[in-house]
Amino acid sequence: MDIDIIPIPDAELKPLFDNPEELGFGRVFTDRMFTMEYTPARGWHAATIRKYEPLCLDPATLVFHYGQEIFEGMKAFASPGGQAVFFRPEDNVRRFNHSARRMCMPELDEQLMLDGLFRLVSIEGRWIPQKRGSALYIRPTMIAAEVGLGVRPATNYLYFVILSPVGPYFKEGFRPVRLCACDKYVRAVEGGVGEAKTGGNYAASLLAKQDAKEKGYNEVLWLDARERRYVEEVGAMNIFFVIDGVVCTPELSGAILQGITRKSVLQLAEHLGYPVAERRIAIDELVAGIMSGRVSEAFGAGTAASIAPVGEIGYKEKDYTINMTEAGPISRRLYEALQAIQFGEAPDPFGWTHKIDLH
Ligand code: PLP
Ligand code: COI
Repeated sequence: MDIDIIPIPDAELKPLFDNPEELGFGRVFTDRMFTMEYTPARGWHAATIRKYEPLCLDPATLVFHYGQEIFEGMKAFASPGGQAVFFRPEDNVRRFNHSARRMCMPELDEQLMLDGLFRLVSIEGRWIPQKRGSALYIRPTMIAAEVGLGVRPATNYLYFVILSPVGPYFKEGFRPVRLCACDKYVRAVEGGVGEAKTGGNYAASLLAKQDAKEKGYNEVLWLDARERRYVEEVGAMNIFFVIDGVVCTPELSGAILQGITRKSVLQLAEHLGYPVAERRIAIDELVAGIMSGRVSEAFGAGTAASIAPVGEIGYKEKDYTINMTEAGPISRRLYEALQAIQFGEAPDPFGWTHKIDLH
């Protein structure tokens, strides 16, 4: 499919930012966005790269009422050779379609979606931040665009991609964050939509996150919905623990997002010679393990957060400190190895990266 590229006058281009502290996460957006429409008669059509601007939608558009929406989060990094390095973009595209199926939305042709992403980032190349620790965050999104109030899958959809140059997700950067294990609220349950990247999962998490923040934690550590016993994931990351020297993460349950960073960390840890395990991890096991020293490190893993060391976990009004609230050696090694691949500074033995030239 051809992409219609609508030029923007130079005078309307925005000034650049490149200071990761100033950028924060998701506050600055580039000059252009990609949009495409779906109708049953025409399928996906009208692929366009145009000026980033507000969308004009009828107040009765179905997405506003019933949340039929999915999104992805991926990053492009600046390589030393001046190219953009995409990290496992095919996995995001595949997961987008997985989310689409769960939410009764039309899938996208994977190659078409990738081509649109590469084209947009190539044109917006000047926005890729150069500093280590920062990247261009890419947010493909699909919303139900039909107007109506009946509860049903929409007939019409809008797909758009926006880009945001970002610094660290947590203001702590690579310094350990504090998590609060939540036994009051749940994020998702097997059979629900936890495995889909859909806005409702994040809406469901807000009250627990607000409570956790009020108590001085950065994020919620979610427990399973049935027993409130097994650790699942964090608000925007999967979770890892080093237990008796083994890099462990909760096994996928259907309620957990199948993180691409999670999968990469498992492969990378194995490649670096650490034993790995995907298994159920009970919060009681963790608490006992932290107290006995068997749990030597904890870290979150996600696109936005990269690898984020965890220094403290709160559970039932008590705080448990991990590795004296320092980032542990395995977390640090994985973080550095992952970043070196993502920034195109180290060889990529896994074939994870896809480099493109900038416009
Ligand atoms: N879990 C949740 C709830 C997330 O929002 C994310 C972020 O995408 C992740 C895990 C990590 O997934 P990924 O590594 O694919 O970004
Ligand atoms: C990501 O890592 O891309 C995420 O989805 C986190 C986001 C919800 C901020």
